[in-house]
Amino acid sequence: MQGLHAPELRGVLKTRDELVSAGKVFIVGAGPGDPELLTIKALRALEQADVVLYDRLVASAILELIPSSSERVYVGKNHGEQDSVQTEIMVLLERYALAGKNVVRLKGGDPFVFGRGAEEWAHLAALGVSVQIVPGISSSLAVPALAGIPLTYRNLARGFAVVTGNHSEESAPEWRNYAHVETLVVLMGVGERAHIAQNLISLGRDKLEPCAFIERGSTPRERVVISSLQAVANGETSIEAPAVWVIGHVVVVREQLLPQS
Ligand SMILES: C[S@@+](CC[C@H](N)C(=O)[O-])C[C@H]1O[C@@H](n2cnc3c(N)ncnc32)[C@H](O)[C@@H]1O
Repeated sequence: MQGLHAPELRGVLKTRDELVSAGKVFIVGAGPGDPELLTIKALRALEQADVVLYDRLVASAILELIPSSSERVYVGKNHGEQDSVQTEIMVLLERYALAGKNVVRLKGGDPFVFGRGAEEWAHLAALGVSVQIVPGISSSLAVPALAGIPLTYRNLARGFAVVTGNHSEESAPEWRNYAHVETLVVLMGVGERAHIAQNLISLGRDKLEPCAFIERGSTPRERVVISSLQAVANGETSIEAPAVWVIGHVVVVREQLLPQS
């Protein structure tokens, strides 16, 4: 499997004693930003952590909940360094666990939604390190909901898909597989939005279809921009990452739910 370094490292755990004295790694979802949207299990894991390795999108209000006695390690990734930082994260997780620490690997949203949580789990599992997953509330679900946009709605949308808009990844999405999903939720799509919208229109999606970008959802700096697919394709929207982009008729439900906005 690509991105996994387990085979070279498998020899690290040499004895049964080392395994028994190894710490445990909690792979924890921090939710979209509002600390009140952490799960109780996530909060408990943070309170008991010896060390917390956290990502760029974990809100500062959540970092404040980490006890001052715990070590905090920032492992956020900048554009272009994803793979090298990911390798370092694997090594750090393994080192802390083998040193007998209680480790929390804290990720924005849910660790299994574009979070590489499963890769980290697989790496640790191959080494014999005990892992517990603590799912988080994904921004893909919570951020539209908080902005008054339900992903499904009777007679408007019977289903939705969550897709990456990151074209720099080796596996950019095959847009024809997503073009006609009733509600399309795009994460990491701010930079490529015009290109994505053009693609969807060329694949037959209605250019007048409404869409919404919700920047920094659930935080005090949340901003919602309502637009149309055509306007996005024309480069007429000004959006800052991180944002959840919702495309579909469910966007109009917001007018009923939050009429003053
Ligand atoms: C690498 S993905 C991680 C997704 C995360 N695991 C989740 O379940 O929410 C990062 C993307 O999630 C979205 N995102 C995460 N938190 C957000 C927030 N509070 N407001 C808006 N978008 C957010 C953005 O599209 C951002 O580019």
